[in-house]
Amino acid sequence: MKHLEGAVAVITGAASGIGRGTAQAFAERGMRLVLADIEPAALHKVVAEFEAKGVSVVSSCVDVSDANAVDSLADFAYASFGQVNVVCNNAGVIENNLAIWEYSTDDWNWVLGINLMGVAHGIRSFVPRMIDGGEPGHVVNTASFGGLICGSATPIYIASKHAVVAMSESLYHDLKARGSKLNASVLCPGWVRTSIVESDRNRNNAPPLSEKLSRTRQRFQQGVNTGIDPHEVGAMVVDGIIEERFYLHTHPEWLDQVSARFDAIKDGKSPALCRIPNPKK
Ligand code: NAI
Repeated sequence: MKHLEGAVAVITGAASGIGRGTAQAFAERGMRLVLADIEPAALHKVVAEFEAKGVSVVSSCVDVSDANAVDSLADFAYASFGQVNVVCNNAGVIENNLAIWEYSTDDWNWVLGINLMGVAHGIRSFVPRMIDGGEPGHVVNTASFGGLICGSATPIYIASKHAVVAMSESLYHDLKARGSKLNASVLCPGWVRTSIVESDRNRNNAPPLSEKLSRTRQRFQQGVNTGIDPHEVGAMVVDGIIEERFYLHTHPEWLDQVSARFDAIKDGKSPALCRIPNPKK
């Protein structure tokens, strides 16, 4: 997509962090916005800020893990603007850090329901209608640098983000194989200054936080605090759409870790233990 002015973008998880930063970057390009989030108060605040700046924006309170709710979001977007050109399947959450065998089925369902099925619903609900619309368009799925490497932390999140990378590659190939005017990208951010560590603020019956988990959360928060600004990520998404790039990296200097993982795979060695590198100074 070369022309963003007047195009309509749907963004999930738009009330905070990367979703909000992307909305801001899109608004600066004259795009019209459909903002979706599970957190009503935060969503209304963001919408009011955009409206005050004269941005053409509508919003819907949506849980992306609910297939029907995402179908309704697509109905709402088309009813509001008559077209959808860009979809950012961005809403995501992260679990507290335990060993992989220590999680409950609720933990698995919560993270996979949002991070994996949320993206699947976004693709299923929007892409057929965007193809039928016949206009150029772009789908951006938010994975993570954690979707490219493996380590010893937040294993459900890592599994979900590997799935998002794989699903995005499938989407890309399926679109190309059918000569579609739509394109796809996968966003793989490193540290970004957002509220991701407090993900369970929107979780029903979130388990209480032990002292040990609080400490690991604090360490994770320190990484997030030294991350880049979400608006910078939004600007990278804009560039990625215009330049038709598939993999969108915010921290390309970390990619040696991905090579190390694939070297171990190629050489039949034990898996490389990738660590999220020191935050960008
Ligand atoms: P954030 O917590 O600031 O924003 C996430 C937004 O998603 C929130 O507004 C939240 O209310 C919304 N959300 C949560 N569950 C939802 C649901 N079921 N339905 C609809 N909306 C829901 O966090 P951030 O960092 O902006 O997260 C956005 C994406 O970026 C996520 O997919 C995350 O995994 C990814 N990411 C973030 C990184 C970081 O360092 N912050 C690094 C790599 C990836």
